[in-house]
Amino acid sequence: MQKINPDEYKHILFFTGAGMSAESGVPTYRGRGGVWNEYRWEDYACQTAFERDPERVLKFHELRRQAVLECEPHAGHYIISDMEKRHPNVTVVTQNIDGMHQRAGSQNVEELHGSLWRLRCPWHGVVEDVGKTYRCYTCEDCGSWLRPDIVWFGDALDQYVMKDAVTAIRDCDLFISIGTSAVVYPAAGFPRIAKDAGAVCIEINPVPTELSPMYDESIQSTAGTILPVLF
Ligand code: OAD
Repeated sequence: MQKINPDEYKHILFFTGAGMSAESGVPTYRGRGGVWNEYRWEDYACQTAFERDPERVLKFHELRRQAVLECEPHAGHYIISDMEKRHPNVTVVTQNIDGMHQRAGSQNVEELHGSLWRLRCPWHGVVEDVGKTYRCYTCEDCGSWLRPDIVWFGDALDQYVMKDAVTAIRDCDLFISIGTSAVVYPAAGFPRIAKDAGAVCIEINPVPTELSPMYDESIQSTAGTILPVLF
């Protein structure tokens, strides 16, 4: 496997999915042990479910927070965050809501699907809440149920996050996709945008995906194993 010299690129973009956190111990969504094999997203990850039973949905996300807090970033996360310190232009565009890139020290992170560590009131905006349990299930100002600030099934992506992510993807000349099944749109369309804009595109995933043939190189390996070899 040939090493990549980051200095040969002006803008390196890491596009990550649940597989990026798998070696930290955070379950992926699909495949063996996947969250959506154990739980129906219709009951826990859509606005209708929240309106039907907000407490149940909040308790589910609280459990996910507790699971994530028991995990630590792995070598791959640190390779990415160290690169940001040494290279003038490194961006992470992630579908992950676990905050693991930021815990490893990455600062330039676009969270496409929101964050487990924020809640929002329909009237009073977003609040940060980073503990094991939520401080409160309802807004202190108006008593409304607080909703996890996550892009659930059927939700639109935040237009500002989307715009920043697409701008960065069009600008990058090295695009590295790590650990995504590439089935959830619009994020699954991002590798094609990078390719059409002329970036060198590399995929890291232990199994081939539908998009694998599009990549310049598709490496069948795990994030924690291959990132230290590549960089
Ligand atoms: P998936 O669970 O669909 O896919 C995870 C991918 O990671 C699979 O293709 C695995 O083969 C791969 N993988 C597993 N272990 C790996 C490892 N150690 N290193 C590298 N790759 C590994 O997760 P996403 O593609 O991220 O949305 O899912 C997209 C969205 O669907 C998620 O953001 C989530 C979900 O519903 C929300 O929660 C809003």
